[in-house]
Amino acid sequence: MTPTDLDTLQRDLLDAVAGAGDLAALEDVRVAALGKKGRISELMKSLGAMPAEERKAFGQAVNGVKTAVAEALGARKQALDAGALAERLSSERADVTLPVRQGPLGEGRIHPVSQVWDEITEIFADMGFAIAEGPDIETDHHNFTALNIPEEHPARQEHDTFYFNEREDGSRMLLRTHTSPVQIRTMEASEPPLRIIAPGRVYRCDSDQTHTPMFHQVEGLVIDEETHLGHLKWVLEAFCKAFFEVDAVKMRFRASHFPFTEPSMEVDVGYAKVGDEIRIGEGDQWLEILGCGMVHPNVLRNVGYDPSKVQGFAFGLGIDRIAMLKYGMPDLRAFFAADLRWLRHYGFGVLDVPTLARGLSR
Ligand code: PHE
Repeated sequence: MTPTDLDTLQRDLLDAVAGAGDLAALEDVRVAALGKKGRISELMKSLGAMPAEERKAFGQAVNGVKTAVAEALGARKQALDAGALAERLSSERADVTLPVRQGPLGEGRIHPVSQVWDEITEIFADMGFAIAEGPDIETDHHNFTALNIPEEHPARQEHDTFYFNEREDGSRMLLRTHTSPVQIRTMEASEPPLRIIAPGRVYRCDSDQTHTPMFHQVEGLVIDEETHLGHLKWVLEAFCKAFFEVDAVKMRFRASHFPFTEPSMEVDVGYAKVGDEIRIGEGDQWLEILGCGMVHPNVLRNVGYDPSKVQGFAFGLGIDRIAMLKYGMPDLRAFFAADLRWLRHYGFGVLDVPTLARGLSR
């Protein structure tokens, strides 16, 4: 290869660099010239076979070509990069006046039942209650018999129970009609003293503006040696004040009857309806929110406790009911209609976690 050949090679390569229309084409040129098997690299390799006196001059010449081509490649790459950026900037536009699209944290909603469930557990946890659980599909024994509701007791009819098909031995499973079977399960599994709440779903064959076939209750149970009716009243009053976030609540304890408590009471909360708004602690309207009483000695006996040694109270609170009251939602059926508009209106932000320290609903 003569010096003229080298000149021609340099010109060819520089022309190719100048002619590369985009970054990919430029890269092809680079590989063809300076890559492992590129034309300049091949020339460098051939130096070894040359006589020593020619090698130096030729080597310098080839290096000169290499430098020139490398510089041209660098300059061309810079030009192409700048062009590509300018093109992107002019083709991609963001309208900064558009509203920011909300992510799942902003758009998602917590159902009022879930929110109120958390509010209730927060309040009772603060009073030292533990959370207990039981199955939705229950035995007749846990839902009725052990709760002092024997076969043929009229209370069984009142419960509008959903039964499963009879099994071979004649027994039937059922959907629990209240959370009270969790009392039985908890006492069967542990020794007193006990202080638990059991929130959960319950089922009754019933439907109108204030009843749905599935709804939610929280059971409460305290068993020890000296808990009495005064404690029950205090706990329920303290709960209502914390839950409704008011200094005073009007509560009405009415004598009632449940087979598993003696004495038994139903509790109403007083409220006023001002326009569409519900005000707790004022007015002369009443809504029943719970049933309660001192645990019946037969129930204690049924779980192997000695009623001459331990006693206590139980209550069953309607979660959906007090959610309606607190947040002014008039129709219970809408709770379970899965209507997105309803959920957007009444639902809670994902990060609105109720805590007593911060204020339950702020
Ligand atoms: N289980 C009763 C009901 O569902 C409520 C209740 C619970 C009453 C505990 C007294 C004690 O109506």
